[in-house]
Amino acid sequence: MGEERIGIGLIGLGTVGTGVVQILQSASSAMRRKDCAFEVVRVAVRDASIKRQVQLADGAIGTDPAAVIHDDNVQVVVELTGAAPAYGWIKEALSAGKDVVTANKAVIAEHGDELFALAQDKGGDLLFEAAVAGGIPIIRSLRSGLVANRVESLYGILNGTTNYMMTRMTRGEGDYDEILAEAQAKGYAEPDPTMDVSGMDAAQKLAILGRIAFHATGTGSDLFCEGIENIQSSDIEAARELGYTIKLLAIAKHTADGKVEARVHPAMVPSESLLANIHDEFNAIEIVGSAVGNQVFYGAGAGQMPTASAVVSDLVELAQRRNTGATTAIGDMVLDDEAAPFADIEDSIIRYFLRMRVADRPGVLAQITQLLATDEISIASVIQKERDLEGGTVQLIIVTHEARERSMRKAVAAIDALDFTEGATRLIRMEDL
Ligand code: NAP
Ligand code: HSE
Repeated sequence: MGEERIGIGLIGLGTVGTGVVQILQSASSAMRRKDCAFEVVRVAVRDASIKRQVQLADGAIGTDPAAVIHDDNVQVVVELTGAAPAYGWIKEALSAGKDVVTANKAVIAEHGDELFALAQDKGGDLLFEAAVAGGIPIIRSLRSGLVANRVESLYGILNGTTNYMMTRMTRGEGDYDEILAEAQAKGYAEPDPTMDVSGMDAAQKLAILGRIAFHATGTGSDLFCEGIENIQSSDIEAARELGYTIKLLAIAKHTADGKVEARVHPAMVPSESLLANIHDEFNAIEIVGSAVGNQVFYGAGAGQMPTASAVVSDLVELAQRRNTGATTAIGDMVLDDEAAPFADIEDSIIRYFLRMRVADRPGVLAQITQLLATDEISIASVIQKERDLEGGTVQLIIVTHEARERSMRKAVAAIDALDFTEGATRLIRMEDL
């Protein structure tokens, strides 16, 4: 056994950090067979007075991330805070010649260009398996297992918190706020849960997958993102009546003009489809590769031990590189001039579910269908519900064939401006997977 103990400096000892220490302290036989030995030598947290669930050497826990980064016994800095200064700490650690492992999708998605180039320049490594889809080894699979492929399309459920929420809401097991609080208590949600429900957490993950799978350049803010905040139980019920289930989907595919269509939004998917049946905090990613065809990855997308499992897999990879004297392997994460931008959502062609409340009088339906026809939107089905006795209005549900998003937005704005429509039209995109 030629094992060398690798000094770990941990910034953050919360949900994920605690799980990482627990796994390292009970190293699996598989890890031991790979000649990997780690020692958590120094830790920084926000409040050192909090009693921790793991035992570390006296004096190991402090509140100064710089002391962790610059400790000579620390070879790998593991950033697990989700805190605003994390970008600076990662940069400081790479600049100091340390390898870095992080679960921070925000930093990787927003500052990847700079950080991967810095790591390459310094001969260090920056690994982030836990940043996307928790315990599912999707980063490693794309970077090595599927490297022979051009990825044609990717459809995923990438956020555990919102999938947990949508699952529970679909089962009628509580209201939005109640179920979000449960997801927070279970340790799935981001320190700021608006990142989850707004779709931005999934958008950042999609930006990272886009970089690897599609050689796409752009951050989470550069792609279309709509969250689940406005999904109502009546939408879920309407979807069910049509044979669909609502999921927060992340979608990426090539466009004909060399860009990458990437979008995150609630979508109605057929209730019998695979993605409709991914429940609770689980994530799934369906990929079509040019050589391999369809591949599905499924597993826990959030939570303490699944995420810690991914962090430790990065540590083991780094340990093996050190054991074999291999150099950094970050070149594939640095984009070149051929990187493709994300396309404008308005150019996407999608199927739509529209729900509106209108006055129940002759000619109303004709005017609405005329507006849709003007924008070349073809209707697949129309359902008119019984008149609302109190308001004298009716609920109209229209499902369209595929149409351009730009046309659909224009048509919906025109419908909402009609004097007989009440409130704004609900628009939910549909994906017939
Ligand atoms: P968490 O439970 O809130 O833990 C955050 C940790 O960071 C705490 O130990 C906190 O210290 C420490 N911290 C916060 N601000 C700090 C500061 N300014 N200086 C030093 N330490 C600071 O968060 P988490 O759920 O473990 O998430 C950590 C990271 O993993 C995030 O980037 C998140 O996106 C990512 N992630 C989480 C999951 C998941 O399921 N939870 C899954 C995948 C990725 P105190 O303990 O003293 O408060
Ligand atoms: N908050 C994230 C989620 C954690 O719910 O998916 C995993 O990245």
